[in-house]
Amino acid sequence: MTTVDVSPLTRPDEEEVPPWWRQAAVYQIYPRSFADANGDGLGDIPGITSRADYLAELGIDAVWLSPFYPSALADGGYDVADYRNVDPRLGTLDDFDDMVAALHARGIRVVVDIVPNHTSDQHLWFQEALAAGRGAPARERYIFREGTGPDGSEPPADWESAFGGPAWRRVADGQWYLHNFAPEQPDLNWDHPDVRADFVTTLRFWADRGVDGFRIDVAHMLTKDLTDPLPSRATLDALPRDGHHPLIDRDDVHEVYAQWRAVLNEYDPPRTAVAEAWVDPSRIPLYASPESLGQAFNFDLLEADFDAGMFRRIVADNLALAAESGSSSTWVLSNHDVVRHATRYGLARPERREDGRPAVKHGTEWVRGGGDPAALDAEAGLRRGRAATLFMLGLPGSAYLYQGEELGLHEVAEIPDGERQDPTFFRTGGEDYGRDGCRVPLPWVSSEASFGFGAGRPHLPQPAWFGDLAVDVAEQDPTSTLRLYRRALTLRERLQTAEQLEWIPTGRPDVLRYRRPNGWEVVTNFGGEPYTVTGSDADPLLASTGDAALIVPGESTLWLGPRG
Ligand code: NOJ
Repeated sequence: MTTVDVSPLTRPDEEEVPPWWRQAAVYQIYPRSFADANGDGLGDIPGITSRADYLAELGIDAVWLSPFYPSALADGGYDVADYRNVDPRLGTLDDFDDMVAALHARGIRVVVDIVPNHTSDQHLWFQEALAAGRGAPARERYIFREGTGPDGSEPPADWESAFGGPAWRRVADGQWYLHNFAPEQPDLNWDHPDVRADFVTTLRFWADRGVDGFRIDVAHMLTKDLTDPLPSRATLDALPRDGHHPLIDRDDVHEVYAQWRAVLNEYDPPRTAVAEAWVDPSRIPLYASPESLGQAFNFDLLEADFDAGMFRRIVADNLALAAESGSSSTWVLSNHDVVRHATRYGLARPERREDGRPAVKHGTEWVRGGGDPAALDAEAGLRRGRAATLFMLGLPGSAYLYQGEELGLHEVAEIPDGERQDPTFFRTGGEDYGRDGCRVPLPWVSSEASFGFGAGRPHLPQPAWFGDLAVDVAEQDPTSTLRLYRRALTLRERLQTAEQLEWIPTGRPDVLRYRRPNGWEVVTNFGGEPYTVTGSDADPLLASTGDAALIVPGESTLWLGPRG
């Protein structure tokens, strides 16, 4: 196995250089939709390797790969059948090693996804549990219970799964098992020593292969208190999430992460981990602390409108939380679970609940409506999306980008029902159209079959308009979103520091302006009227409009700073 060591970051004249992940630009790859080298319609690991130069040219520090493990694809790979292997449709472990070597050779780190809350129902353990029958030790690795009602034909509790429908499923011998997500994703029992031991083995397996870090799926749900009698769904919903909730964000999950942290710290450099934890913001530092995973996603920007007040509050709150945990903040506008931000910003603002969060996932209503073109201002959405991206890339902390946003892709709404894959679509009877629209295979070459994704029929259909946004077209167009991302990420590499920001008053509620101690300034005009930058001796470096000048048009961002 060839690996190029990208770890040493100390320079002779410096005592200690902060770990790479604290200020990294991380590009999320959804492997089955990135690039398909063998032409079977599913993106694969050699496909990623074949695009290593593209990734290097983009100027990112790391890639995070969504699951590429063997899977029956009941939930896009988040139903893992074998945690220490590659789905044969996506390649082999040797292919994985080649990919890591190719990325490391270009200075790009590799983060992989770990899915510890549940396995696939195809996992050996679950198959054993089914075969072993009620009362067998093999069932204790999962959460099996007797049903209720006179003949046990009612579920143990009326809980609902995150994808809709009941959270308990009955097996042939009459027992029930818990699945907080799809029925093909049985929840593991984290009180079982085999479960704890096996995930440590998995972390070591990938860390030993040169993986630099881990993204931890639903990190806030592993441990559970399932003492009988089980509470009703209404009781669960009403219970405070204060560390003692039976299912969510329990304090005792941090025993797991303390053990993982010790393992990750055995490596040089220590392997990084980032928690996907949908918890009250006040509890994020528990996951992000150095004794725990080290970093946690902050999804606030991803849920915000394109709005100066919201953005400012979110930045201030999250920088404070990061400081509290000793971590650095994370910023995310798009990922594989939400409608792409260019599309969200082109739609009417979502209704919000009392706590400020959107009542429904922003944009899903539009997808369900068939993607009504009259409801989407695609141009405005992308204009605002580009402005928001530059706002985000200027912030201290790490920025997570999702494949395809650098091409200015919009959500794909026009997927026939018969081709949809997301379990939320099936489990809500089509009520929620789910997440397929941001997972459509990328367009690379406008004139080729499947726009250069691969020779086969792509596993989700690409719309004709993808052709105009293909990489080869974008490379030729100086105003393209791809060229903007490349310039922004290259500049960010030079200008990014751990130092915090200072807000500069603009006299306008719809204009935000911040400065970093090295003179890097970011001005985002969320409103309609142009804003003129005064009082800065920095040079205009880059603008989301493509035209860097001291007059910042509406819905755009300008970067100023020292010329390199
Ligand atoms: C969060 C992942 O991001 C999502 O895609 C997945 O469906 C759930 N966790 C369940 O694993």
